[in-house]
Amino acid sequence: MLSGKTVLIGITGGIAAYKICELIRMFKRHNANVRVICTPNAMNFVTKLTLQNLSQNEVGIEEFEIPDFKPEHISYADEADIMLIAPATANTIGKIANGICDNLLTSIVCAFKKPVVIAPAMNCNMWENPIVQENIQKLRSTGYEIIEPESGFLACGYNGTGRLADLNKIFDKTVEIINSKKKLTGKKIVITAGGTIEDIDPVRYISNYSSGKMGLALADEAFQQGAETVLITTKDIVRPYKIIKVKSADEMKQAVEADFGGADCVIMAAAVADYRVKNKAEQKIKKTDSDSLTLELIKNPDILKELCTKKTTQKVVGFCAESENLIENAQEKIRKKGCDYLIANDISRKDIGFASDYNEVVIFNKNGGQKRIERAPKNIIARKILEEIYE
Ligand code: CTP
Repeated sequence: MLSGKTVLIGITGGIAAYKICELIRMFKRHNANVRVICTPNAMNFVTKLTLQNLSQNEVGIEEFEIPDFKPEHISYADEADIMLIAPATANTIGKIANGICDNLLTSIVCAFKKPVVIAPAMNCNMWENPIVQENIQKLRSTGYEIIEPESGFLACGYNGTGRLADLNKIFDKTVEIINSKKKLTGKKIVITAGGTIEDIDPVRYISNYSSGKMGLALADEAFQQGAETVLITTKDIVRPYKIIKVKSADEMKQAVEADFGGADCVIMAAAVADYRVKNKAEQKIKKTDSDSLTLELIKNPDILKELCTKKTTQKVVGFCAESENLIENAQEKIRKKGCDYLIANDISRKDIGFASDYNEVVIFNKNGGQKRIERAPKNIIARKILEEIYE
């Protein structure tokens, strides 16, 4: 099941550390390569020799033993497919949540760009401490997978929540994440991003404040999950997948239509201008003696709506930027446009949406269902949107 995969297990200083010996065996039984790193405190509960024998690999503890040309924390991070920290103490959780890198384990997590699973274990009063809960919340919303501790009789003599989750649960979740990484393989996903630019004359234009970050986050996530990804954007971006740079709504329409046929899903995250200037001036418009200037605007094509009339097997997803009555307007919009999903966000809020790295959305589906995704970084929102579309 795990041949060719490397699981990096980080052990911190809690009594549940002894249980990780069995967890290492479980991964080894499924042919994973297991690398183990420990915080210095973990060595009070398990021995290096035991962990080395079970994992059949060197165990890392100190940060400045450098046997290679690369610093150790970077080598470990590059090699592993997933990192699992179990048990995770309140101390290590606090450090990770605050970007502290004072030992090998915390330095590796900070440099780790692949999935990280954290299984906390501690005294129940520590677990309930609002500061610990705030750190857990911070980690969760940054994309770390938290496997909550269970309640029962704790090693410290208390009865409450804090016991390391069942080893089978930790194992199953880790395997599920390793195997789910590429769940969009074979699917072509076309995503649009950024605000379109409608020329007035050679030096002036009409546009909007869209940063293109949400569409980019969706494209990055689709690519990471194995999709053949096409990003049609008004922004200058370099990525390892296909990028088509466009300017106006008309150009965006042509680009989307060219890739629509073979697509499995089209996500219109772009902020498309509803109108463009009717007669774009060939030369710069000169200031005149008059106190006003009138520009006549004509309607742009509604790309999303037109796709919905043409679609066969494709899933078509729209976005909906609203500054008031979000729910009512979104319900009306999904009906009018005829798309499969509509992702609604409130652009009147300063802490999410346009230009922000965060978003909070409500996903509507064509059957009338709706699901709120609480405020989180745009990459997490992107993952949840794709999960909802492909669940
Ligand atoms: N959209 C589109 N073509 C347009 C305008 C919008 O494809 N000419 C798409 C957007 O990419 C988005 C969805 O339609 O996925 C909704 O965009 P939004 O600006 O919220 O709605 P509009 O249809 O423009 O309606 P209004 O501006 O009146 O809210």
